[in-house]
Amino acid sequence: MKPILEAAVEVRSHLGPDDERTLADDVLDGLTRPLKELPPKHFYDARGSELFDAICELPEYYQTRTERLILEANADEIAALTGAVELVELGSGSATKTRVLLDAMAAAGTLARYAPVDVSATTVHAVAELFAEEYPGLSVAGLVADFERHLAHLRKPLGPRLIAFLGGTIGNFTPGSRRRLLRSIGKVLGPGGHLLLGTDLVKEPRVLEAAYNDSAGVTAQFNLNVLHVVNRELGANFDVGAFEHVAFFDREQEWIEMRLRARAAQHVRVEALDLEVDFAAREELRTEISAKFTPERLCRDLAAAGMEIVARFTDPDERFAVSLARLA
Ligand code: SAH
Ligand code: TRP
Repeated sequence: MKPILEAAVEVRSHLGPDDERTLADDVLDGLTRPLKELPPKHFYDARGSELFDAICELPEYYQTRTERLILEANADEIAALTGAVELVELGSGSATKTRVLLDAMAAAGTLARYAPVDVSATTVHAVAELFAEEYPGLSVAGLVADFERHLAHLRKPLGPRLIAFLGGTIGNFTPGSRRRLLRSIGKVLGPGGHLLLGTDLVKEPRVLEAAYNDSAGVTAQFNLNVLHVVNRELGANFDVGAFEHVAFFDREQEWIEMRLRARAAQHVRVEALDLEVDFAAREELRTEISAKFTPERLCRDLAAAGMEIVARFTDPDERFAVSLARLA
């Protein structure tokens, strides 16, 4: 099949004033709960995206390296199994592993379109420009959007679609939202479409905890950055230095939990919400979970979303898995 060529690059945005609303709603909901909490998508302003890229290079953070190796070893098979002409990438970030997939699709002669989707406008624009230049003839259709709300805005598929959701980002959702998100991904797979899902695997807590408590303190800065975001966007007055980074493996839930702990009692005002919030000394704010998977957990979540696994790829030490799934 000959790929259809389109205009080289476009980036459409579905985030607007409306989305300050989402942050405002999330902060209002999250900070008034008995166990304070913020959802993870607000980490990724320009600084947050930069810090995340730095996390990916840390010696303790094995996930990015391992997932890259898995993709390198199996990209040709993935291209052959899916026959994909387009790659949609959810939470693409700076898309450092994406070339492995694009190269395999190009070698198979099917590659026609790449669609990075991310809430971070800076990264979508940068990746769109870069890939349009590096892959002549590739149509790049970037989407600055929230993948929990805006998947319906994807262009119609040009042919068999591959949706990549890498980096273990699916693990950052609680079990219910995780299944809801997977189900909504299932709805935009299109005819003959596949999902390529990267998940971190359950392993010794020592290894997991080190990945989120790096010795250089980058993860701590990343975690604390969310308070800068709330200060800037909603006129809050968090004293960022008065909080410390906490990350631990919850063995019951099999997830890493990231929190910010008040070093001493704090009073915070959030101007845009006319909200006053008190933190007791050592009170914690949950900022992120990162679920770790067993093959069974993954199967169950995908099945609950109406999908089945076609192939599962992992590294020799079974640290990380990349699964290829389709509608059952
Ligand atoms: N895929 C890359 C980046 C993972 S970091 C990798 O594997 O290294 C998670 C990415 O998802 C960030 O770039 C963040 O901006 C994006 N993201 C998080 N929540 C999102 C949401 N709700 N909608 C769209 N993008 C989101
Ligand atoms: N998807 C990544 C993960 O769960 C996101 C991440 C890595 C992260 N390190 C972090 C999120 C530190 C918050 C804080 O591994």
